[in-house]
Amino acid sequence: MAKQRVLSGIQPSGKLTLGNYIGAMKNFVALQHEHDCFFMVVDLHAITVPQEPAALREQSEAVAALFVAAGLDPAQASIFMQSHVPAHAELGWLLTTMTYMGELERMTQFKDKSEGKDAVGAGLFVYPSLMAADILLYNSNLVPVGDDQKQHLELTRDLAGRFNYRYGETFVIPEPFIPKVGARIMSLDDGTKKMSKSSPNVGSFIALLDSPDEIRKKISRAKTDLGREIIYDVQNKPEVSNLMTIFAQCSGQTLEQVQTTYDGQGYGAFKKDLAEVVVQALEPLQNKYADIRSSGEIHHILREGAERASTVAEITLREVKEAMGFLPRAH
Ligand code: AMP
Ligand code: TRP
Repeated sequence: MAKQRVLSGIQPSGKLTLGNYIGAMKNFVALQHEHDCFFMVVDLHAITVPQEPAALREQSEAVAALFVAAGLDPAQASIFMQSHVPAHAELGWLLTTMTYMGELERMTQFKDKSEGKDAVGAGLFVYPSLMAADILLYNSNLVPVGDDQKQHLELTRDLAGRFNYRYGETFVIPEPFIPKVGARIMSLDDGTKKMSKSSPNVGSFIALLDSPDEIRKKISRAKTDLGREIIYDVQNKPEVSNLMTIFAQCSGQTLEQVQTTYDGQGYGAFKKDLAEVVVQALEPLQNKYADIRSSGEIHHILREGAERASTVAEITLREVKEAMGFLPRAH
């Protein structure tokens, strides 16, 4: 297969969770050797809900460092901050003008995030147009994301098609790259809700930087369904099925192998082993994270990443503006 362009992003809002890792980052790492990859920290997206400046700065650096700690190699993949490449904001605006209100109103993430709030920023509403710009600027073929981003990807594909139809072939139509197992890791306190870093209950998610003891405590307290069997059955046993998914993804086993191993055993033994599997999966990442943060090398990595990203993004932006009829600036 010819080298494909791969792009994805993660918001620097709160601590990254095991859901982010299993649903997205693991695939970033797997794809980097075969493809031409761009991974960014989407700080412009994070500010669609209020952020405290010092916390935004810290979280941005932390997420970039976690990318590297999880195994992304800056020599293989460009790692950068979205706000360091101004073309994102600019193409975001151009695409916002081509996005229909009705399309944005249908986005479930907007409905979830705005529900019950009386002051909702307009940025939260037009967020998917900015995400489309992120993807289309790089002529991305594949976008590794968790299940919750499918709808945004669909809109991105529609916008790319709409642009190409109106102004001539300009954008590549991207495909989502969603893992078969683990695309939607659920909350530890409710097997019907997505594990989320913005949950007020810290016991509902495992953060990538949680200590081994915190991880053990959270898993031992994780909700389990009625009955004792370790069976993968999302309809009837959502909580146990979720824990099995985490086990499989952190150990490299299949769901069938996990089910066979724990056939006839109770939740207690399973959870104990699960905690150790998660602790071991995160240990190398946590050690590497500490080294990267203390060395300060992330600033250099981000500078290089932004340079590589800008080179690609600016070419696309120029083509887009020319196709749309903007008067070129004379040199
Ligand atoms: P976000 O934290 O919203 O920026 O999400 C970053 C990436 O992680 C996206 O690709 C999401 O789809 C993915 N992701 C977030 N939460 C989960 C989850 N609970 N299970 C699987 N993937 C997730
Ligand atoms: N919307 C994504 C999320 O919440 C983050 C994101 C922004 C993204 N731009 C992107 C993901 C481009 C993939 C590609 O998870």
